[in-house]
Amino acid sequence: MMAIADRQETITKLIGFSAPYLNAANQEKQELLEIRSVHERGIKFLDHLIKQKESMKLQIEMANKFAESTNKQYRHAMLRQQMKEIQKELDEDKSEKKEKKDYRQMVEEADLPEYAREAALEEVDKLEAQGPNGHEEGMIKTYLDLILALPWNEKSDSEIDLKFAREVLNRDHYGLEKVKDRIVQHLAVMKLTEKKRGTILLFEGPPGTGKTSLGKSIAEALGRKYVRVSLGGIRDEAEIRGHRRTYIGALPGRIISEMKKAGQRDPVFVLDEVDKLMTAYSGDPASALLEVLDPEQNDSFSDRYLDIVFDLSDVLFIATANTVSSIPAPLLDRMEVISISSYTNTEKFHIGRDHLIPAVLDEHGLNTDKLQISDEALRGVIEKYTREAGVRGLKKQLAKIARVSSEKIVNGDIELPIRVTTEQLEDILGRKTVRLEDALKDDFPGVVTGLAWTPVGGEILFIESTFMPGKGELVLTGQLGDVMKESARISLSLIRSRLANQITHFDFAVNDIHIHVPAGSTPKDGPSAGITLFTSLASLLTGRAVDTKTAMTGEITLRGTVLPVGGIKEKVLAAHRAGIKRIIMSSENKNDLQDIPEETANAIEFNFVDRIEDVIDLTLDIKLPEQVILDFSESTGEMKTQ
Ligand SMILES: Nc1ncnc2c1ncn2[C@@H]1O[C@H](COP(=O)(O)OP(=O)(O)OP(=O)(O)O)[C@@H](O)[C@H]1O
Ligand SMILES: [Mg+2]
Repeated sequence: MMAIADRQETITKLIGFSAPYLNAANQEKQELLEIRSVHERGIKFLDHLIKQKESMKLQIEMANKFAESTNKQYRHAMLRQQMKEIQKELDEDKSEKKEKKDYRQMVEEADLPEYAREAALEEVDKLEAQGPNGHEEGMIKTYLDLILALPWNEKSDSEIDLKFAREVLNRDHYGLEKVKDRIVQHLAVMKLTEKKRGTILLFEGPPGTGKTSLGKSIAEALGRKYVRVSLGGIRDEAEIRGHRRTYIGALPGRIISEMKKAGQRDPVFVLDEVDKLMTAYSGDPASALLEVLDPEQNDSFSDRYLDIVFDLSDVLFIATANTVSSIPAPLLDRMEVISISSYTNTEKFHIGRDHLIPAVLDEHGLNTDKLQISDEALRGVIEKYTREAGVRGLKKQLAKIARVSSEKIVNGDIELPIRVTTEQLEDILGRKTVRLEDALKDDFPGVVTGLAWTPVGGEILFIESTFMPGKGELVLTGQLGDVMKESARISLSLIRSRLANQITHFDFAVNDIHIHVPAGSTPKDGPSAGITLFTSLASLLTGRAVDTKTAMTGEITLRGTVLPVGGIKEKVLAAHRAGIKRIIMSSENKNDLQDIPEETANAIEFNFVDRIEDVIDLTLDIKLPEQVILDFSESTGEMKTQ
């Protein structure tokens, strides 16, 4: 543009060319060009230029000012940002320092035993030596947090009050008088000796008999914290004693984590289902548990993660198990076993009415203004809808009643309270599930009722024998163990030697004998079915039926002696539940009946026997001559061990 302006040779041309670019209104520009005198026109043009320059100056000044101010703002923003960053860094540094300082301070101020403090301070040193984002930082802090949270010295300050303890036990559990006595005695000893090294209680008994819930009551009775580990699901020693910290994601074991949770060093610690641990565990469960439970060594329990010893000697350990048979002797030695047996129907009724129904109503947000279950209905549920040693199934059925009722209440169209009577049970719970009485109705030669003991309580079982064309073989089915198979062979030999002249219509030479023990899928073993097997064969071969409401248990010898067996109490309770009227057992088992509840003892006739001749007499009404020593020369059957 300047170049074009340069090319304008006269002032007139220059003004003519430049005028449109002037910073003036069009009217003014027109007036400028209309000035006739070149001189005046030139002066006016200059005026315009000067004016324009002034305004330009102003503009520039303003622009400068503007630039200056924006610059300032920008710079300020920049500075502020920088300041923030610096502050952040400063803060971080500060908090770094603060945390480090805190851990050190916390460890120094915490109530720790000296060795724990030393170990913790070593970790604090490591933490401080780490850079701000050291990769072990998190790990060290987690470890320090554990040390700081463990109850090294904190204790419940409650005194043992026996009266209160018994009150709590009675409040939470019906019956179990002997068990409660033993517990209170144990507490008394604890109080008297104030000994640090307490024994460990082991509650043994069938499922649903209150073992676990007793543990909780004891904690409350003592005013101590309650923690529980279910050992049933534990397969790996690390779950009990932790992983070394060198493992990624290492954790302390359950014992130490529960102690942390308890927050006091003298909680009641329930080790639930110790017997299950033994069966599922790979490795050496006994040694891991010994360290926990053995009063001689549990003041220095070592968890691999914690890496320093922790004193468990103030803990009151309570173990529970369905059977002690799978617990290794060294472990069992250190525990005081308290057996809890099955409940009778009357006991179940009281537990149901006084404990389970209120608990179930509460759990479902109901009360007796809304739902009432009649006593008769409760008895009906116990007798017809459950067949169990404990009361867990009963509680489930009651919960079902509560659920169904809740639905009706929410739907609205029902008059409150809902009253559940026996008639409504089938509507609510469906067809009754227990049909044992039917099985006991018919007597066949060869079918005899036996009694068995299992970890879930006593059971009645039926031993069935039949024969078919063959050549004198004995077939056994129903997953019988070796001992039971031997009992069957002993029985057969005994019968062939002792009962030969009673067996008139059976020829061993052309028949096979088949013995089956349902339920076929459950493995069974043990010698206690001896007299049942014997009676079943005797019944089959003589063609005489035995009353199925008569049950029996006992081992037999080849000489025909009936020996005592174990598990009598559970067996008798199961027999009572199943409607058995008479039980035959060895006279040496008489003493085992002492603590059978009266209700059961009165409902059953007990026959005590010493020899199989007595059994034959009682069941088949066959009287054999007295024969103390088996005389082989008299036997007509061919003695052949198979
Ligand atoms: N005597 C009783 N009085 C009151 N309630 C009882 C009694 N016995 C058992 N219960 C109740 O029955 C339920 C089952 O009991 P719990 O869980 O303690 O059984 P358990 O013996 O530990 O069984 P498992 O061997 O299967 O673990 C609990 O709700 C418990 O409170
Ligand atoms: Mg339990």
